[in-house]
Amino acid sequence: MQISQRTVFIVGGTSGIGRGLAQRFADAGSTVLVGGRDPQPQEGLETVRIDVTDPASVLRARDDVLRAHPALDVVVTMSGVMLTEDLRDPAHVVAAETTVATNLLGTIRVIDAFTPHLLARGAGTLLTVSSGIAFLPFPLMPTYGASKAAVHAYTESLRAQLAGTGVEVAELVPPAVATAGQERVNPAALPLDAYLDEVMGLLATEPTPHEVLVQGVQMHRWAERDGTYADLVARRSQSLSTLPGR
Ligand SMILES: NC(=O)c1ccc[n+]([C@@H]2O[C@H](COP(=O)([O-])OP(=O)(O)OC[C@H]3O[C@@H](n4cnc5c(N)ncnc54)[C@H](OP(=O)(O)O)[C@@H]3O)[C@@H](O)[C@H]2O)c1
Repeated sequence: MQISQRTVFIVGGTSGIGRGLAQRFADAGSTVLVGGRDPQPQEGLETVRIDVTDPASVLRARDDVLRAHPALDVVVTMSGVMLTEDLRDPAHVVAAETTVATNLLGTIRVIDAFTPHLLARGAGTLLTVSSGIAFLPFPLMPTYGASKAAVHAYTESLRAQLAGTGVEVAELVPPAVATAGQERVNPAALPLDAYLDEVMGLLATEPTPHEVLVQGVQMHRWAERDGTYADLVARRSQSLSTLPGR
């Protein structure tokens, strides 16, 4: 996809991967807006207040963005929460509900809000965000993995339904990246800049890849195909020992 001279709205772009991606698009010469629940001013970027768990907030943000930027042609659904859960404790359901409301329903709401605009333009890019965990569970984060597997499945159907409209659909599949506290708990997490270097290279290819898979996520994405799935899930299950009482 072309990464310069686009008008890009990154919902969930106020920190972490989204903020970094916003800077990369801005550096490439695109106009970039970042959205979050309580956005602070960001140099060189426009900010938008949006809570993807609140349908009214999503529609308000959509109307404000399109009024100011009728040429908007890239929407990134980056908003997400990454919560651990102990499934032996029924209290986990609070985390499960927040996760589904943000990661899955939030993604669907934002796509619904902007799809008519992109269809009317007959061109544009919707970029969803799943995770390596969508393809290879990390058992400490059960609903997170389920929500991201759902985002993957949803993206596949969205692409099929929008085929031939000029609106392309791509999916960012990050491995562990050193943001959102990952840098403290996961020494293997990729530095954000290294991750974004690879992502921008892949995004800039034509045709736009359906899945943006950096080297570090190939082992997650293809574990089932490669016959490494059971071993890797067993290894990743060792993290469960960090739960209280295990
Ligand atoms: N870091 C990783 O290792 C990793 C790996 C795979 C996938 N991912 C995915 O990549 C995305 C970004 O993760 P990150 O590591 O950059 O995390 P992050 O720094 O915590 O960023 C999360 C973003 O989501 C926004 N957000 C959260 N709840 C929201 C809501 N209700 N409404 C609107 N925005 C909301 C946050 O904005 P506000 O707080 O300002 O609302 C923030 O901009 C997530 O979807 C995550 O699941 C991350």
